Amino acid sequence: MGRGGARVSWIIVEYSVLRPTAGRVGIAWSYAVVILETDRLILRDHEARDLDGYCRMEQDPDVRRYAGGRPRSRDEAERVFWERAMAPDRSVMGVWAADLKPDEIYVGRCGIYPEMQGDREIPGEGVLSFYIDSAYWGRGIATEAGRACVAFGFQDLGLSRIVATVQNGNDASARVLEKLGFRLEWTEAGKNRTFLHFELRRPASSDQPSILAR
Ligand SMILES: CC(C)(COP(=O)(O)OP(=O)(O)OC[C@H]1O[C@@H](n2cnc3c(N)ncnc32)[C@H](O)[C@@H]1OP(=O)(O)O)[C@@H](O)C(=O)NCCC(=O)NCCS
Repeated sequence: MGRGGARVSWIIVEYSVLRPTAGRVGIAWSYAVVILETDRLILRDHEARDLDGYCRMEQDPDVRRYAGGRPRSRDEAERVFWERAMAPDRSVMGVWAADLKPDEIYVGRCGIYPEMQGDREIPGEGVLSFYIDSAYWGRGIATEAGRACVAFGFQDLGLSRIVATVQNGNDASARVLEKLGFRLEWTEAGKNRTFLHFELRRPASSDQPSILAR
């Protein structure tokens, strides 16, 4: 398959956790495990084995230049890994580990998480996020992973709008968004940094949402 291939598939495994309540069994909660597959990548939940790859990226000044500003120490990176990447998450949205096939090499993370207004999720909206190990830059990996997440977001989550924010100067990131069809919506000039806010609206031709329709 070619670079940046458009073939995307995913499986969603839904679990229910049963808890006995006053002599009866009730469903305490349920959650879904999402796995997205493209020509070259598998996006899946993070696992403990991703620790070193995740920390290497967080310690890399090139990866952090426009995403946090400064590299993290190994200790700090480990704390972030356990608190964020490995946090229990019952949402069908997520920022997934990206494995490069066929050897399942961890090359970064990509996903969609809820867009918030204060402490409230904005219904029908998601935020696209991608971070790729600098050893794998320039091979179309972020574009391929992002395309899978966008397809999943529109076609299965039924999102109507996906947004992304890029620090001014992060031209590679802006270029990935451009390749995915995002357009610049507004520019936010801060005291020290300027941010570019991009958006992509659900195309009229998207399949009917399946999760929200259930
Ligand atoms: C942004 C990032 C995810 C891109 O990953 P990637 O796998 O290299 O991206 P792709 O190969 O799919 O596409 C990169 C595109 O940007 C272009 N590009 C790279 N550096 C560039 C630069 N300095 N100026 C302009 N374009 C640039 C590439 O040529 C390519 O475009 P093309 O296909 O038209 O040639 C990666 O650089 C990264 O992880 N950066 C650090 C984390 C980060 O900033 N994440 C985004 C937070 S908003």
